[in-house]
Amino acid sequence: MSKLKIAIQKDGRLSEKSLELVRECGIDLTNGSRKLLSVAGNFPVELMYLRDDDIPGYVADGVADIGIVGENVVEEEQPDVQILEKLGFAKCRMSLALPRTDNYKGLDSFHNKKIATSYPNILQSYFKKKNIEAEIHEISGSVEIAPAIGLADAIFDIVSSGSTLISNGLKEVETVMYSQAVLISNSDLNNEKAEIAEKLLFRMRSVRKSGKNKYILLNAPNDRLDDIIRLIPGMKSPTIMPLAEEGWSSMHSVLNENEFWDVIDKLKNYGAQGILVIPIEKMIV
Ligand code: PRP
Ligand code: ZN
Repeated sequence: MSKLKIAIQKDGRLSEKSLELVRECGIDLTNGSRKLLSVAGNFPVELMYLRDDDIPGYVADGVADIGIVGENVVEEEQPDVQILEKLGFAKCRMSLALPRTDNYKGLDSFHNKKIATSYPNILQSYFKKKNIEAEIHEISGSVEIAPAIGLADAIFDIVSSGSTLISNGLKEVETVMYSQAVLISNSDLNNEKAEIAEKLLFRMRSVRKSGKNKYILLNAPNDRLDDIIRLIPGMKSPTIMPLAEEGWSSMHSVLNENEFWDVIDKLKNYGAQGILVIPIEKMIV
């Protein structure tokens, strides 16, 4: 049986989370010491650890079958791959930044300016769309120091927390795109590999869903049960069991993390008691 080759970033902003996601999918990586390859013991996959910039090309060429990489890298390189799923981690933006003391008067400020970046294609097409003529200077690393050493007037780079900009005396002035980790696939997988990729994608979705949801148990007065069911309907509908004490029920449901505190406040107003909230490890819907 053939193995699906998954490319993930060797070292960088996506590596930890990519590996964690693969592990949470129940894939047991025997020699996960990040050499070049590791083979899973219990699922037909093989992990390849690569530089992020190389991942789209290798997936397009079939050296790897699927890969986890930043959307920005895919956008920059325009490889012939399919984006299977946005993975919701390593979120960042691609922005234009200027020295903090510069007076920014809108996009026209970039006319005839020299801009350093590792993402010339994204910037080029953005400027084309906005009718800006600028000189794009491609450099491969430490873009943020370019203005200070007189190499450029501005930069275009990844911004996540923004601390790199601050520590280099720069300010973000325009956001060109938002990015996050995505799962990409070779567009011509054979049936066997496509099936493995499908299974893996199903697992990834289950892991992501469960992460955002919590299992909730509570006791409620029977006359408020309808309100509570409307508030936390659960996956299909909540489980309700009578308590030994007359007029009370126990209820089990599922609750999304984003609405957690809001729901808890309302539950208390409805007279719910003994509320327990438990993490969900996997969620199959
Ligand atoms: C990016 C970017 C900045 C930093 C910004 O580099 O080039 O250096 O992250 O993050 P911050 O806003 O949280 O400070 P990255 O670590 O992705 O390395 P790479 O460009 O070599 O892939
Ligand atoms: Zn990189």
